[in-house]
Formats: sequence, structure tokens, C-alpha cells
Amino acid sequence: MIEVEVDLGDRSYPVLVGAGVRHELPALLPDDVRRVAVITQEGIGVDVDPGVAFEVFTLPDGEAAKNLGTIESLCSSLAVSGFTRRDLIVGVGGGVVTDIAGFCAAVYHRGIRFMTVPTTLLGQIDAAIGGKTGVNLPEGKNLVGAFWQPSAVFCDTATLESLPPREFQSGMGELAKYNFLGGAAPGEPPLDELPLDERVAASVRIKADVVASDEREGGRRAILNYGHTLGHALETSGSYDIRHGEGVAIGLAYAAEVAFELGRIDADRVAEHYRVLGAYDLEAALPANANPAELIDLFSRDKKALDGVTFVLDGPDGVETVVGIDRSVLEAAMERMERMAKS
Ligand code: GLY
Repeated sequence: MIEVEVDLGDRSYPVLVGAGVRHELPALLPDDVRRVAVITQEGIGVDVDPGVAFEVFTLPDGEAAKNLGTIESLCSSLAVSGFTRRDLIVGVGGGVVTDIAGFCAAVYHRGIRFMTVPTTLLGQIDAAIGGKTGVNLPEGKNLVGAFWQPSAVFCDTATLESLPPREFQSGMGELAKYNFLGGAAPGEPPLDELPLDERVAASVRIKADVVASDEREGGRRAILNYGHTLGHALETSGSYDIRHGEGVAIGLAYAAEVAFELGRIDADRVAEHYRVLGAYDLEAALPANANPAELIDLFSRDKKALDGVTFVLDGPDGVETVVGIDRSVLEAAMERMERMAKS
């Protein structure tokens, strides 16, 4: 078992990583917790015993559950069952569940404690760490939410064994991202050569460090969106059969090409992006039916676009946010990607 701390002063919390760590939950439950509300989804099938009285609230499967109606009905169910601020919520599932459970914890009785057992690779290395909680509106994803930190996170890697192969592989896109956000500690092998548990722990450590330095995304935290600008556009355009992590992987290759066009990185560093994506068995090319002009149009609608087209890009000082990128640069980078795919 590996333990990583998210250092937020008196709101610091541990993230445990390893096979079977969800069984450590009773040991980390605060002594004064009377009862636990376990929030999960139908298809998750991961048992959690908090070691005190608990009630399970099961949401329907899928992203469609992530809305304000679900929050209202969950809060009503908690009220009917008599849960109070002395109790605690545990979210068991992927990012959809941990986002809903965390937001429910943030608003029920003006905020109660919560812990998460993320059961997907994406959840373990991203969604469940860092206190971003919330739900979608018909107008867009994650438009209503709160920063609400958990008291502990249990990244039980045994739960990954039952993931559908494509879901697991999609998580690899997010995992590959961390190779460029600090990667392995000096003297250690690159992240892509570590066993999965250690890779998850190393990614959690990088995310914990970024969150500790910028909890509310005033600046540095935005680097966690490396690869996400094109990734989101591919996901939201509706024209492609693409999962989040698959989009991030293609977005990492594209971000490297944009950085190259701007003279921020050299050809070797671009090649390193393609090497890492290959090591994770990730597709680095645009979908065959991609429409680059439509994708570039979508960038300007990305919620992180602060001033013209904004990208998180690699460069001499590492990965950082770059604003005001010309359309001609974005088009040239698309052409480079298309040439690369043909070569
Ligand atoms: N998923 C990006 C963040 O947590 O800030």
C-alpha cells in the first residue's frame, strides 16, 4: 500500500493506493461518525463496509445521472433516513459517482464529510483527487459544483481488474499525461516503465502537489488540463466515437505539435510525446473522419478559453497555460498531425 498526502493545511487528507485498500476505510473513519451513506451506481458492484451502520443509495448507471435532479433526490433520501452533519458520505464508483457524492456532501446540511473509493483508472488518478465536485446542466458539463475536499480517498487497484478493456485503456490517456507534468522522481525509471500501482501513486502524487499549490484553479492547477483542449472538442462535437482518455491522448499529441509550431519545444520533445503514447498503446492520430476546422472552432468555446484561444502547452519551463494563440498556428499543427498519421 502506498500513501500520498494532499497537503491542504488543516484540510489535508490521505490517498491510499494499492490492491484492497478500500478495506482500510474503517480505520480512517473519524471516531465521531455515527452512520455512513454509501453512494454508488448500479453497475459498479464494488462492496464497501465502513465498519459502522450504513445505508446504500444506488444511482442509475451512466453520465445522465449527473444532474441537479439527482442531487435533490439524494438529499431528500438522506433527510428521510435522518442523516445529519455528524455522518459521512462515501462515493463508490467512477468520476460520475465521486462528482455527485462530493457535491451532495458539499451542499447537504451545508456540508458534511465525505470519502471516495474511485473504481476507475480515470477516477483514481484525476476525478477523485482534489475536491472538484459537481453536476452537469443541459447547457454544459460540470457547470454547477463546489470545491469540497474529501477526508480520505481509497484508490483500490483491485477494482480496476473488472473494468471493461476500453474503459481501462481510456484511463491510460490521462495516465500518459502525467509523464509530462513532472513524471518520475529524479533517478527513477519513466512513469511508463513502472508497475500500475506505482504509476497510479506517482500520478496521484503529481496531482496532489498541483492541487496543494492551487486548490481553486487560480493558475497552476490548469496544467492538469494538458491535452484536454482538443480532447474536449473531440468529445463534445458529437461526431466521433471517443472516450475522455482517448481524446486526451490525441490532445497530448496535438498540444506537442502546437508547442512545436510556437517554437516552445523541439522535434525530439514532440517525438517523446508520440513515444509515450505508443508505450501506453494509445492512438495519437485524429479520427479518420475528423474535421480540423470544426474542431478549431470548438476550442474557442472551451470553458478554459480566457482570452482568445488558450492552450496548456509544454515549453522550456515545463507545462503552462498559453493564451492568445493564432488560428494559423492551430491549423499548421493540425496539418502536422495529419502528415504524421500518414507517415
Ligand atoms: N481534472 C482537473 C482538476 O482536477 O483540476
